[in-house]
Amino acid sequence: MEPKKLRSSAWFERTGKDGFIYRAWMKNQGIPDYEFKNKPIIGICNTWSELTPCNAHFRELAESVKRGVSEAGGFPVEFPVMSLGETLMKPTAMLYRNLASMDVEESIRANPLDGVVLLVGCDKTTPALVMGACSVNIPTIVVSGGPMLTGRHRGLPVGTSDLWRLQDELKGEKITVDDMLAIEASMCRSRGHCAVMGTASTMACMVEALGLSLPGNAAIPAADARRKVLAQLSGLRIVEMVKEDMKLSDVLTRSAFENAIISNAAIGGSTNFVIHLIAIAGRIGVDLSLDDFNNIALNVPLIANLQPSGRYFMEDMYYAGGLPAVLKELEQFLHNDCITVNGKTIRENYQASECYNREVISTVEEPFNPISGVVVLKGNICEDGAVIKPSAASTALLQHTGKAMVFEDIDDYKSRIDDPNLEVDETSILVLKNVGPKGYPGMPEVGNMGLPKKLLEKGVTDLVRISDGRMSGTGFGTVVLHASPEAACGGNFSVLQTGDLITLNVQERSLNVHLTDEELQQRKQNWKPQPVITDRGYVGLYIKHVQQAHLGADMDFLHGGSGSNVSKDSH
Ligand code: FES
Repeated sequence: MEPKKLRSSAWFERTGKDGFIYRAWMKNQGIPDYEFKNKPIIGICNTWSELTPCNAHFRELAESVKRGVSEAGGFPVEFPVMSLGETLMKPTAMLYRNLASMDVEESIRANPLDGVVLLVGCDKTTPALVMGACSVNIPTIVVSGGPMLTGRHRGLPVGTSDLWRLQDELKGEKITVDDMLAIEASMCRSRGHCAVMGTASTMACMVEALGLSLPGNAAIPAADARRKVLAQLSGLRIVEMVKEDMKLSDVLTRSAFENAIISNAAIGGSTNFVIHLIAIAGRIGVDLSLDDFNNIALNVPLIANLQPSGRYFMEDMYYAGGLPAVLKELEQFLHNDCITVNGKTIRENYQASECYNREVISTVEEPFNPISGVVVLKGNICEDGAVIKPSAASTALLQHTGKAMVFEDIDDYKSRIDDPNLEVDETSILVLKNVGPKGYPGMPEVGNMGLPKKLLEKGVTDLVRISDGRMSGTGFGTVVLHASPEAACGGNFSVLQTGDLITLNVQERSLNVHLTDEELQQRKQNWKPQPVITDRGYVGLYIKHVQQAHLGADMDFLHGGSGSNVSKDSH
């Protein structure tokens, strides 16, 4: 059989003026002519940025990928795309996930690339790049940047999940500002992303479980030399993938998505996983709904004892055997014949792995926690769904009825939460509106809102909290998130009032306010939308087109893909 013509040949095999233009300017980088002759051109899509500290080591990582690409006979070209730094971007990095995905999609399609390596790390960089690449669908492999080494303060481990506790302790005057500063200096002590099972680690596990990375990708610490080895091997492999014409759609089947959901339950992954996975499925054309998250991982227990649901860190997970050891434990639940980017099945990839520490990765028979995953709730507060992560919640609150204390938006919350006269007690349910995709806009991670000072002083450590926003993957508490439709859309959630009686029943997967349909209807007649903050630029476009959380918060016009063909050829 004739080998398939390289996509890049439409640029570099040309003669005359067009070929001259395509090659001549590239040659200003000192590239010899033979590099353009039938070599797979591999794009290294880099989210390096000094404003994204979790990805700040990526130029070095790209060098390792390049070594692998060259060794395999390909020609590596590194290119930048918008980087999304979780800690610095305002109002929230999530506002820009779809924008970055557009950058990735158009950069890949417009350029003479035969395959692409996605360098991802900090939370949103992974879904943004995978979404964009899916809409083009050429051979693609993912290399994650790896987690930081576990932080250490006064001999004890410290990580991002501690931040929420520290915030409450500072508010309750149990620690001082100086204590906080000392911990700040101890936590992020190496390159890499958050070291707990927050969203970045969840996303790294997601790509490995989907089959988009080489086995072991998720947990190797960023500072470990083996991270560079994996990057080099990924560079080698992408050249073979181009020769085999193995595209994203060959790996991303419905079964692969189910594997990701199963493994996410077992590792106690972030609630953000739900939104990003649905968005990725939408781009590659796999039918995946919010309800699937309830059904697919039904009997899968939590076996990874990692913060925020457990005790340990990603570094510990790596030493215990990494994700392959988790997947091996999940054999009875997985679609084991799913093909992955190295051409092997997921079972072939995990088969030789071993667990070296049952404290960190337990067995299915004796799980770390029988409660796992993300539970989808339905009810008259959230007609299209809401989610909760029971493993990070207080067991006593998983079935709870209480009176609502409603905050209309984040400013309302900030101005009143520490008011000594706020009418709340340990049975109250905090409700925060207008932090959804359209309402904020961008759906920030404020759903695990801090508790009122007066309750913290009484020793209260958790309350049921409900919002249309998200929560950091490092957060915890009995926190109901992603209420859909969001308040800005004028559904039932938008008309909740302080004093309403709300029942959360995680066992029954329900969330309801004790109001009749007529009462809700009546209230909705008087509902007025909040003023739209802008209709200009990207943010205006986002507000107009972003879909609700249960649909992955992607823009309606980005659903699906346009393939790799370029519509017009100007030269
Ligand atoms: Fe980048 Fe947590 S801030 S992964």
